[in-house]
Amino acid sequence: MRYQLKPIYCRPWTLLGLSPKLIESHYENNYGGALRRLNAITAQLESLDFAKTPGYVLNGLKREELVALNSTLLHELYFASLGGDGRPTPALAEALGRDFGSVDRWKSEFVAMGNALAGGSGWVVLSYVPRDGRLVNQYAAEHTQAVAGGIPILALDMFEHAYHIDFGANAKAYVDAFMRNIDWSAVDGRHQDALKVEPPRPLVQKEFGDLPGVGIEEVKAMLDAGEPVQFIDARPRHSVSRTQDIVEGATWRDPERVQEWMGELSKSDPVVVFCVYGFHVGCKTAIALREAGFDAKYMKGGYSGWKAIGGSTKPVA
Ligand SMILES: [Fe+2]
Repeated sequence: MRYQLKPIYCRPWTLLGLSPKLIESHYENNYGGALRRLNAITAQLESLDFAKTPGYVLNGLKREELVALNSTLLHELYFASLGGDGRPTPALAEALGRDFGSVDRWKSEFVAMGNALAGGSGWVVLSYVPRDGRLVNQYAAEHTQAVAGGIPILALDMFEHAYHIDFGANAKAYVDAFMRNIDWSAVDGRHQDALKVEPPRPLVQKEFGDLPGVGIEEVKAMLDAGEPVQFIDARPRHSVSRTQDIVEGATWRDPERVQEWMGELSKSDPVVVFCVYGFHVGCKTAIALREAGFDAKYMKGGYSGWKAIGGSTKPVA
């Protein structure tokens, strides 16, 4: 397979403060160079007998392939980011306001990130992350750094070749010129396409799909707010013996003896119960409590999830 050249998208003669000479040099030498390298590497990979290729040779080629491939992708996005009047569309302004506080706040971070890369090199990329349904400003010190699962919609090239012909070492003036030339209607189109990308399928523990669960962050917020929640650590006895600690704010109860201790609980206040990871033991305990008429839920993720969000624990008394 050969990668195809994409034509230059912006009209270089219409850009304010960025000369056609700069854009042409960038497109022909740097984008074109990456594309030529990518195709040469691809041809070399296609000719390899992988069973006889040393690991260091394959590592080197695959690394260079990634560098060249991302360089072509980011450069195509860079040229497609230019050619407008620098004013965000209403839809983008709303999305930026939602995810960054305001358009000005987004812009101040994006520009500061560009300026921070001056004197070095890299990219500043506005990316949509389907998992969270939000936009992020992403830093990249070189072509291969990217948010896993992110969809880039706007890219600022901070390699020196992107500005030295027009601006010398004055990278700040280049960043300002870039911002004035952003084609926000094109960014908007890419954002609309990105919004159609489904988030990754949710990570559910299917066997207890219909049992009401509650997220760890939510439980922590209830406890922090002093709400009257009955918080039960129902890990098996051997788990507690192994870790020698219990979750702060929780009371340990033996899940084997739920019928014995449930009478000590109040039916008017909610019960949150958890086990090690949030699978069988916690769920079965919650089911037993619900069958007895308690407002019980299991905490998704269990003890491990609590530790993972930095929740505190205390030694077993
Ligand atoms: Fe570049």
